[in-house]
Amino acid sequence: MPVKVLEEKVILEHPSGSSAEVYFYGATVTSWKCKGKERLFLSKNSFLNGTKAIRGGIPLVFPQFGKASDPSFETATLPQHGICRLSKWEWLKISVDNDSEVSVRFGLADNQVPENLRKEWPKKFRIIYTITLTEDTLNNHLTVKNEDIKSFYFNALLHTYYSVPDISKVSIKGLSNLSYIDKVTKNAQVIDTNDSITIDQEVDRIYANVSSDEIYIDLGHEDFDNFILKKINLKDTVVWNPWIDKAHGMSDFGDDEYKQMVCVEPGTVSEYVNLNVGETWEGGQILKINK
Ligand code: BG6
Repeated sequence: MPVKVLEEKVILEHPSGSSAEVYFYGATVTSWKCKGKERLFLSKNSFLNGTKAIRGGIPLVFPQFGKASDPSFETATLPQHGICRLSKWEWLKISVDNDSEVSVRFGLADNQVPENLRKEWPKKFRIIYTITLTEDTLNNHLTVKNEDIKSFYFNALLHTYYSVPDISKVSIKGLSNLSYIDKVTKNAQVIDTNDSITIDQEVDRIYANVSSDEIYIDLGHEDFDNFILKKINLKDTVVWNPWIDKAHGMSDFGDDEYKQMVCVEPGTVSEYVNLNVGETWEGGQILKINK
């Protein structure tokens, strides 16, 4: 069977041997294996029982990235990163199943969000999340429909945790010579003139309006394929690694695990999308392994 529906998660299997796992909780993709290797990072300390957002894989951020800076804004009282990663999603079944791809869908409407979160953002909406697996790609596609009687604002982001063999060898290309907001130093705008981003300390950056739709994550290791990330209608990119002190401070993250992960997160977070009544917004990413 190319798709196994279990109590807590769905497993997609492609004839090439690639596979993916998606929890109903958060519709969080927690595993993507291809060519015999795990490509996503999932913390060994992550909660998987629905009591806390899953620490790893691809949590979904919506309708607020981080916390809103304006305390009077309509998303201001939501928890960090919003409601999607804290809600149990509806299984909308298999949409494609053939020799080249396996595709499944999950749905979330306002009335499926836990009541305590829903009251903090009482908008009517419907999200369809489509996950498609091929031999060497994973495609995450979101559609958000406004079913309210008023327009609403939102951020959306795919908080993707890549598994890396050694963070000191990783370089990220496609974001050089761009200004970013540095959340670590609280500097409003910084320009990195290096050819690529390397990580040897805490990194938490928001690159806004990135012109290229492709980002390369080079693992710098001959036994591991690199990644190409193709962004679809997601103009911003967040790069995050908690490094030593922040790693120690997280109960759901191993002290040394910062060496085995990097988050490269395409999203629309520097500005809110204003979605009119009855309209639908779409965005997503395609992850591909690349020698
Ligand atoms: C990143 C943010 O996207 O997510 C960081 O830029 C944040 O500031 C990180 O620390 C993890 O967030 P959380 O809520 O999953 O601990």
